[in-house]
Amino acid sequence: MPSEYYLITPQLYDNQFWWKKNDIEFWKSCFNTKSSSVLEFAAGTGRLATPLIKQGLLYSGIELSQEYVEYAHKIHHIPSIIQGDMRNVNLSSVFDYLFIGFNALAHLLTIDDLKSFLTVVKKHMHHNSLFYIDVFTPHPSFLVNGEQVNNNIMDFFDYEIKEYLMVRESLMYNHDREIINVNWKYLRSNNTIYKEFDFQMKVYYPDTIIRLLRESGLFIQNIWGGYNRSPLNEDSDLQIYQCSIV
Ligand SMILES: C[S@@+](CC[C@H](N)C(=O)[O-])C[C@H]1O[C@@H](n2cnc3c(N)ncnc32)[C@H](O)[C@@H]1O
Repeated sequence: MPSEYYLITPQLYDNQFWWKKNDIEFWKSCFNTKSSSVLEFAAGTGRLATPLIKQGLLYSGIELSQEYVEYAHKIHHIPSIIQGDMRNVNLSSVFDYLFIGFNALAHLLTIDDLKSFLTVVKKHMHHNSLFYIDVFTPHPSFLVNGEQVNNNIMDFFDYEIKEYLMVRESLMYNHDREIINVNWKYLRSNNTIYKEFDFQMKVYYPDTIIRLLRESGLFIQNIWGGYNRSPLNEDSDLQIYQCSIV
């Protein structure tokens, strides 16, 4: 269940993803009208909230994990992230911009979950709203049989234990459910395991996302393959959708 997705602490999340900054200017350029309202689904610890609020946007975020929500309030001073499940949340208001970034869509592990999410999205749009998705494009190498080990996918300084850690990733693809089972081992410099963490990500191909967006009544205005707004093609690492309601 996605409710158990983030077993890593919010501190560890922030420490681990210190390097993820390449989407910030992209989102700022998408939401370039001052005082517009923006709703982020799966807002996490507020990594994107801070630059968007500084830009003068009226930012709100929905996040499943109560621990992450409290951390966003206390540490990043973002009271506008609230606890909720993006598959059924109802805020009784509409927003100028709505988005789900940094692969959070892949935490919707079934097609039914994605459909429920898109119904929620539509409920929170008005006739001029724009909705964006940013998620990885499945790479053929994910889909091999058997376990795949990637040795050093990221390293970072952990401020809790004041040590550098390296992440070793193992992937196992489930063909029936089109889900990747991911295991991350956090290794200390002496190669012992500090922590281990298992989670799942749904593999979404562009044709599935396009079909479900259309079926849920959303109109796709653009599909890009990266933050530079290049068109999506077979070499793209990302699939980024911009949708309106009509
Ligand atoms: C990869 S993090 C992205 C966080 C943030 N958007 C960012 O860009 O740093 C994914 C987040 O999705 C949240 N999440 C997973 N399933 C969710 C759901 N059904 N509703 C709301 N949030 C969810 C997780 O708790 C986690 O914080």
